[in-house]
Amino acid sequence: MTGASSGLGRAFSVALAQRGAEQVLTGRSETRLAETCRLVEAAGGAPPRTVVADLTEADARRRVVEATAERFDGRLDLVIQAAGVGAYGRFLSHHPDVLRRLLDVNFIAVAELARELFPLLRAGRRPAMVIIGSIVARRALPGRSEYSASKHALAAWVDAVRCEWAGAGIHLLLVNPGFTRTSFERHLIVDTAFVKAEHRRSMTPEQVTRATLRALDRRRAEITLTASGRLLLMADRLMPALVRAGLARWTRRLYAQHQVYDEPAQAPQPERLSGGSGSPYNQDAGD
Ligand SMILES: NC(=O)c1ccc[n+]([C@@H]2O[C@H](COP(=O)([O-])OP(=O)(O)OC[C@H]3O[C@@H](n4cnc5c(N)ncnc54)[C@H](OP(=O)(O)O)[C@@H]3O)[C@@H](O)[C@H]2O)c1
Repeated sequence: MTGASSGLGRAFSVALAQRGAEQVLTGRSETRLAETCRLVEAAGGAPPRTVVADLTEADARRRVVEATAERFDGRLDLVIQAAGVGAYGRFLSHHPDVLRRLLDVNFIAVAELARELFPLLRAGRRPAMVIIGSIVARRALPGRSEYSASKHALAAWVDAVRCEWAGAGIHLLLVNPGFTRTSFERHLIVDTAFVKAEHRRSMTPEQVTRATLRALDRRRAEITLTASGRLLLMADRLMPALVRAGLARWTRRLYAQHQVYDEPAQAPQPERLSGGSGSPYNQDAGD
């Protein structure tokens, strides 16, 4: 389980513990991972093995794979990749590092970890991998250009690799949540929005978890969550011009109109990039 130290990954860890699964959990924050372990054990689960790792680093991914192989004797039935970060604001107001970091975390790290876990999954029983995408994996949103691009890349990769891995008996499920009540927005690596989006009709992580596990049991290929998310994707297919106009209006409401093209570029916040336990990023109270 990646992203197990917070939000959706933590909710998955607890739900799987309730189903009796043994787990290897990974995240960057040791303290938050320890809190997830406490919740897993409180839910009746076996004490998980934890690996503190920034998954954008090849060495860290290798440690995760080695710990997983050791814990499960080289066989793996289920991988849930829930780690991810976001960035809000207009593309031109962001430093190029924002784009690079989001592609690294949300796409390249996920694909490379999957590559390294393939031999373990291939040896598993009815093996499956769940990838957490987003509504923006299928309809990009203004003010989230880098995030949308990273999730689009992820969805395209899943579409291709799902077919490649079918012969090996490995199932891939892409889950596209809408707004979910986690710490995601507190962990944005940059946020230059002037007005916060309203998150009415958002889901809880537990609702996302339940819907995902149901879809996994039914061997679904992809699910889209929240009614408003599904509505957006349907409207985009049927009336793309109208959706474009609506999103342009929405952008004007969220971001100030002045100096759109000549603001200084905003770099990612350094404390949001490192998950080391001494960083301010890690001093958030819980989730
Ligand atoms: N919340 C939403 O509204 C929403 C909607 C659609 C999709 N999603 C997706 O759902 C997934 C989970 O997000 P969330 O809402 O649960 O947010 P969250 O509470 O911020 O959790 C993000 C998780 O990703 C981990 N992570 C971030 N960067 C990492 C890195 N470089 N290496 C390893 N782990 C890293 C974090 O670990 P540390 O905390 O230990 O650093 C944390 O466990 C993400 O892929 C996100 O894009 C969320």
